[in-house]
Order: sequence, then structure tokens, then C-alpha cells
Amino acid sequence: MQYGDMTQNEIINALKQKLDRPIVLVGMMGSGKSHIGRQLASELGLKFIDTDSVIVERAGASVAEIFERDGEAKFREAEKNTILELLDQPPCVIATGGGLPVNSESLQAIREKSYSVWLEADIETLLERTAKNKNRPLLQQEDPSAVLQDLLEKRRDIYAQADIRVDSSAGEAREPVSQIIKLLCESLNPDSVAVL
Ligand code: S3P
Repeated sequence: MQYGDMTQNEIINALKQKLDRPIVLVGMMGSGKSHIGRQLASELGLKFIDTDSVIVERAGASVAEIFERDGEAKFREAEKNTILELLDQPPCVIATGGGLPVNSESLQAIREKSYSVWLEADIETLLERTAKNKNRPLLQQEDPSAVLQDLLEKRRDIYAQADIRVDSSAGEAREPVSQIIKLLCESLNPDSVAVL
């Protein structure tokens, strides 16, 4: 069957039949990992997990407080332990903190044990989406745009190792969600002819 002939429900069913591991979303702060991840999980009838939320819940402190109290290295250690644990779960959708795949052990585990998605957005979009939230310690600087640019330069090659890449600059989550579903379905059903 060609994807162009399939309804959204047929594509979702074809994907779910082949999905044997978690879907992991990676990308910069403000790329929409949590927002899109939640909707993706809902579309697929899967559990949604956010690594930052797991760390915050376990620490009983916000991300900003953890950075302040324990230091960034401790937060990165918690990120690694959390993702290594979560990757052993049955299919679900996992949104990661922007810096999580920078750790090589975490990146390797993501590559081996999940279907990974890089949510890509331009700097203006990232800046706009992160502007109001004070809970991102790395952006509490005079020039957050320069920080985002610098982090993206350093992380681009890491994010690019994800199985698929989807543009999340557009305001609505619906478009990236259906793109992810189609692209994952296509890569898990290589015998079908994609007409995207
Ligand atoms: C970070 C991203 C944040 C959070 C922390 C550090 C980063 O998560 O983990 O502030 O290094 O990019 P989001 O990507 O969900 O904002």
C-alpha cells in the first residue's frame, strides 16, 4: 500500500504494529519536545514521559534549583541515569532535556534502544518560546539568542544522529506530529512506497 492512499488511522495502526521501543524526542530548548511529545503520545495511545519532569519530581526541586544547589554536573548525571532507565520501557514517547544527548553514553543508548526524532526550529522560534520561562538556567543571560546559537552550533551534529528530523518551527503541534508518525511509519515499513 502507498502512504498517499492511507488514512491517518491506517498509518497510525501500521506504525503501532511495528513499534517495539520508545520514541525519543531530542532538540534544543523551545523546540517543542514536551508539547509535541504529549500530543504524539496521545495520538498513538502511548504513555508520555518528560526526563526533566522525572528529575524534578525525584529531586523535589525545579531544574533551576538543581543547577543552583547541586551544580550542572549533578543535573547531567541525573539526566543520564534517567534516560538509561527509561529506555528499557515498552513503547512510549520520551521528551528529553536539550542537553541530554550531549552525553555520549546517553546518545549511544538512544541510538540503540529507541526511534529518535530531532525537532528542529530556527533561533527566533526558540527564543520566542523560551523567553517567558525563567526555569532554564542556561538562558538566564544578557543575550539568550547568542547562547542558543552557540549551543545549537555545538549540538547540531549530535541531534543530527537522530533517526528522523522534523521541522517544529510552525506554531501548531499537529503538523510535526503527523510528520513524525508518517516518517516513523515509513522507516518501520520500508517495503511500502512512501508518497509524502
Ligand atoms: C537544557 C534544557 C532544558 C533543561 C535544562 C538544560 C539544555 O530542557 O534540561 O534547563 O541544556 O539545553 P528543555 O530542552 O526541555 O528546555
